[in-house]
Amino acid sequence: MNNVLVANGPNLGRLGTREPEKYGSTTHDELAALVGQWGAGMGLEATLRQSDDETDLVHWMHEAVDAATHVVLNPAAFTHYSYALRDACALVTAAGLTLVEVHLTNPHARESFRSISVISGVATGTIVGFGVDSYRLALQAVAQRVG
Ligand code: DQA
Repeated sequence: MNNVLVANGPNLGRLGTREPEKYGSTTHDELAALVGQWGAGMGLEATLRQSDDETDLVHWMHEAVDAATHVVLNPAAFTHYSYALRDACALVTAAGLTLVEVHLTNPHARESFRSISVISGVATGTIVGFGVDSYRLALQAVAQRVG
């Protein structure tokens, strides 16, 4: 079974209570269970991790390269300014692995600073605006590419 790392950036651990009108009422633990179930149904071993720390996310991208693991990444606010995370993501796609950037909301329909993603240019593709279903769609994209 192909492994997929699903990585969530800062403040996403607060899902369920963080601005639920924007991000929905599904908690991070519930999302973790859904990701596992969705992945299994697609023949993927998908594991969700979350960190508020840029260093963790950069290291997880390095680990993904070393373990040849595909990645679904919601970089959260790091999307808009983290060149370190962008460079780490570039290593993933340069290794021939799939990296799907996901967002719960559609950042292009929000404040103007959110319409800049420094990650998109090195991602395989992006899925935005479908709430937690963005993650299911991203896993489907990975499954289709690796299947
Ligand atoms: C987000 C969008 C980002 O702009 C924001 O900083 C987040 C969540 C989303 O999933 O919609 O934390 O990545």
